[in-house]
Amino acid sequence: MMEKTAQLYEGKAKKVFATNDPNYCIVSYKDDATAFNGLKKGTILGKGAINNRVTNHLMRLLEKNGVPTHYVEELNDRETVVKKVRIVPLEVIVRNIAAGSLSKRLGLPEGVKMKRTVLEYCYKNDDLGDPMVNEYHILAMEWATEEEMDLIASYSFKVNEVLTEYLKEAGIELVDFKLEFGKTADGQIVLADEISPDTCRFWDIKTHEKLDKDRFRRDLGGVEDAYQEILRRLLGE
Ligand code: TMP
Repeated sequence: MMEKTAQLYEGKAKKVFATNDPNYCIVSYKDDATAFNGLKKGTILGKGAINNRVTNHLMRLLEKNGVPTHYVEELNDRETVVKKVRIVPLEVIVRNIAAGSLSKRLGLPEGVKMKRTVLEYCYKNDDLGDPMVNEYHILAMEWATEEEMDLIASYSFKVNEVLTEYLKEAGIELVDFKLEFGKTADGQIVLADEISPDTCRFWDIKTHEKLDKDRFRRDLGGVEDAYQEILRRLLGE
């Protein structure tokens, strides 16, 4: 039986604990929500349990489709056993439809479909506000090797293909999302962190209603209902 020992880390949405086995950690999802690099703070009731269950559901689907992940076992509503990894300090953003910072940066109205999938990298550093970087920065800073970046890019496109198709069946349009990768003790690159309404833009396929954290970021109301709706559509409850 895997048991939590010391708390290793507390992030904005999750805590990470060591376990009695050095190869595994336990993540615990919180209801805390932040936006704009922690400037806006709040609580989304029930979010921790929903993000835990949605993430695990999607990670299992991705594993089946050839994307290695850190997922091991869901312990309870909020807690999951994952492989211990060293996080590659990058946020990998995949975009199918213009929204958010891409719309601002390029002057594209939200909702414009991109002619090709767009991949972006940000350096994961709160003090610097997660600045956008390119592959030259990443290699020069030795955050990852060229081989690792090739794997990270190909896994990211695969995640996009698998999730886009799967979510369409649930009436959800996958607008964009953020991934993080980690490296296990034996050097394998695996998908880590979470895949949830906190880290993806999910729009209703027909009405384009936002079913994700943009409801919190933009004070649109109905935040809890949107998270609940994603859980219902994906896990049927
Ligand atoms: P952006 O349009 O604000 O750059 O966001 C792109 C995607 O990345 C969107 O699905 C939300 C997600 N995201 C995170 O998961 N964490 C973050 O800190 C930010 C800024 C975005």
